[in-house]
Amino acid sequence: MDNLRIQGGARLEGTVRISGAKNAALPILCAALLADGDHRFRNVPQLRDVRTMAKLLRHLGLDASQDGNVVDVVSRRIPEPVAPYELVKQMRASVLVLGPLVARYGRASVSLPGGCAIGARPIDQHLKGLEAMGAEVELKHGYVHVEVPAGRLKGAEIVLDMPTVTGTENLLSAAVLAQGRTTLVNAAREPEIEELARVLNKMGADVEGAGTDVITVQGVESLQPVDHAIIPDRIEAGTYMAAAAATRGNVLLEGVTFEHLEAVAAKMRHAGVAVEREGDGIRVAAEGELRATDITTAPHPGFPTDMQAQFMVLMCTATGQSRITETIFENRFMHVPELNRMGAEIDVDGRTATVKGVESMEGAQVMATDLRASASLVIAGLVAHGTTDVLRVYHIDRGYERIEEKFAALGATIERVPGHA
Ligand code: EPZ
Repeated sequence: MDNLRIQGGARLEGTVRISGAKNAALPILCAALLADGDHRFRNVPQLRDVRTMAKLLRHLGLDASQDGNVVDVVSRRIPEPVAPYELVKQMRASVLVLGPLVARYGRASVSLPGGCAIGARPIDQHLKGLEAMGAEVELKHGYVHVEVPAGRLKGAEIVLDMPTVTGTENLLSAAVLAQGRTTLVNAAREPEIEELARVLNKMGADVEGAGTDVITVQGVESLQPVDHAIIPDRIEAGTYMAAAAATRGNVLLEGVTFEHLEAVAAKMRHAGVAVEREGDGIRVAAEGELRATDITTAPHPGFPTDMQAQFMVLMCTATGQSRITETIFENRFMHVPELNRMGAEIDVDGRTATVKGVESMEGAQVMATDLRASASLVIAGLVAHGTTDVLRVYHIDRGYERIEEKFAALGATIERVPGHA
């Protein structure tokens, strides 16, 4: 497994182009299961998770191939709607095939995704919604088996206990071919959900209200294949914003939707970072002292949990004490012990981490655990004195396209070295 070797100290300067959104691409690729024919998805990032999803679609019987940032999927009726453990265990987002498969075939068996490093991450809301639409659910031998006795899902009023992102996406994808009208109440409002609804409507679906907490779907009889370019990745963008500010640099992020980053921009501005729209992107600049700033993660449009670790590193370079509260996942502070080994002063008490800004941090050998924690270790390495080796960089390759090339182009000293771990 490769490592990233970083020599800290450089201010990041220049321009970085933001890639397509991983968390939009994954549910959209699954939507190809809903309509036979040739689909083309553009601006798809070249990531491990995208390769995993393409492999799962091929296993199900579709053709799926990526050439650069274009993914072509030839969809057709498949023999067996079963997503096996050996593929689902590599990526919990594989559960996103469940909604499309049940919508199209009236049945599906998907290996339970199981928890992951950041939490248990159950799918009870996904299953409750499908049951409301007439499905019967059975959990057996680590698989969830879903069967629709009537053969076709029926529209229903579904109230989610919490605004689950992939839960909303699964149920939205199930509802578009259901008989009648479905209302999803307390739906997640992330931009990736609006993007999925945009694609489904381009395919001939009838979805209204995506991006708000009430989504209504009028089921249709069939859908058509689609050609679509994916929105930019707001979390990749936020990560480069935090890195630019932490190194006191001046960076233009190209191809970013500012509206997707309002909460992150507001907190960075409060800390004293200059964040301005510029062309089709955002310019981020910082110099001198930054002000300690508190954040509490929340569903969109609140501060995104996927930016919590990256903002925490930025607060390590600020003056004073910041309180960072994680409300979405129960175990998303695994970056803290590694950051403290680099000289940070972070104290965790339950869901809140107290970050005391420090004058400097020291390079060290650190271990990546989950995708966004790993990104925060890279930012820490860019800021620290000396050399930082981030081990198990495959976590990063799941969600960041060409990360060392992009940072090197901004002036960082960073290289990928073959690992032994
Ligand atoms: C999506 O995960 C993202 N993944 C995550 O990004 C992101 O962190 C998360 O949303 C929150 O924004 C993708 O979009 C592929 P949730 P998801 O269902 O859908 C609980 C990354 O870094 N819950 O919104 O799995 C759950 O335990 C990844 O790209 C239930 O209890 O998150 C969690 O505490 C990491 N029952 C909370 O809701 C359910 O049925 C939010 O989970 C579903 C969720």
